Amino acid sequence: MGKIISLLNHKGGVGKTTSTINIGAGLVELGKKVLLIDLDPQANLTLSLGIPRQKYSLYEALRGESELVPVTYKENFDVVTSSLDLSGAEMELINEAGREYLLRELFELVIDDYDFIIIDCPPSLGLLTLNALTSSDYVYIPLQTEFLALQGLAKMKQVIDKVRFRLNKKLVIGGVIATMYDKRKVLNRDVVETILKYFGEKVFKTKIRNNVALAEAPAQRMDIFSYQRSSPGAKDYLALCHEIIDRCENGIPQAAPRRTAAPAPATPTATAAPVVEKKETVIERIRVEGPVPPPVIRTESSVEQA
Ligand SMILES: Nc1ncnc2c1ncn2[C@@H]1O[C@H](COP(=O)(O)OP(=O)(O)O)[C@@H](O)[C@H]1O
Ligand SMILES: [Mg+2]
Repeated sequence: MGKIISLLNHKGGVGKTTSTINIGAGLVELGKKVLLIDLDPQANLTLSLGIPRQKYSLYEALRGESELVPVTYKENFDVVTSSLDLSGAEMELINEAGREYLLRELFELVIDDYDFIIIDCPPSLGLLTLNALTSSDYVYIPLQTEFLALQGLAKMKQVIDKVRFRLNKKLVIGGVIATMYDKRKVLNRDVVETILKYFGEKVFKTKIRNNVALAEAPAQRMDIFSYQRSSPGAKDYLALCHEIIDRCENGIPQAAPRRTAAPAPATPTATAAPVVEKKETVIERIRVEGPVPPPVIRTESSVEQA
């Protein structure tokens, strides 16, 4: 059965759509079959891949007027498209029974056809995003390595935690992706340090560099591998996909370094200890400590003087 991953950040412009497309394309490069879901009414993903307006988009499916109708973008790479109509869906579905589970129900019919379903979330925490989280195995958080990258993150985590407790017990933060990274910029390096401090091992080792080809590819209606497979952007997303597959097969690394203690006796309590809770240590800590502070920022000039 396929894994379902939501790309979530309530901020716009952090690389959700770019990452959804190119993680999808990278997984296809590695032999996987992938379905992308464009859950953003702005339909950036649909437009970036040059897919024309469909008779049956995600909107019709969520309203119960059709099943999910994937469009094939290229071999092993399908997309369920979005349209501006979707912006009305949150209001229209507000009184629908089981409104948080609509996407999950729709996935039941297609999940066996794919290795991965990847959802491009809108930049908000409304009903559409709730549907994504309720149906997902993992949330990946793309963070732009700029000042204020972590602002509002506590709220987003509250939502993820609530969904886990009330609607979807299996949901975990499966990874944090540093995007638009430029190692020459002190600011970018400092922000990555702060992200690492708070998310620990959850942060993927691969950072997505700032790369113009990634911004150009949508204008050509292509993923990065179709557009420029030798670009740094293609290399980064391919490396990230190797990490993603590794995490799916071998588990998500612990958020904080684990202490090496003597193995616990095999009492019923020890056996029943949920592994998932251990993985969430840092996340829990952030919840207790409150909002994540902004990173300590050095300026280029202060670093040069040092
Ligand atoms: N690594 C990158 N390097 C250069 N430009 C990027 C990169 N990632 C995203 N962009 C560009 O930044 C803008 C915002 O990215 P996008 O993926 O649309 O963010 P979101 O979906 O979070 O709003 C887009 O114009 C996109 O082409
Ligand atoms: Mg987007």
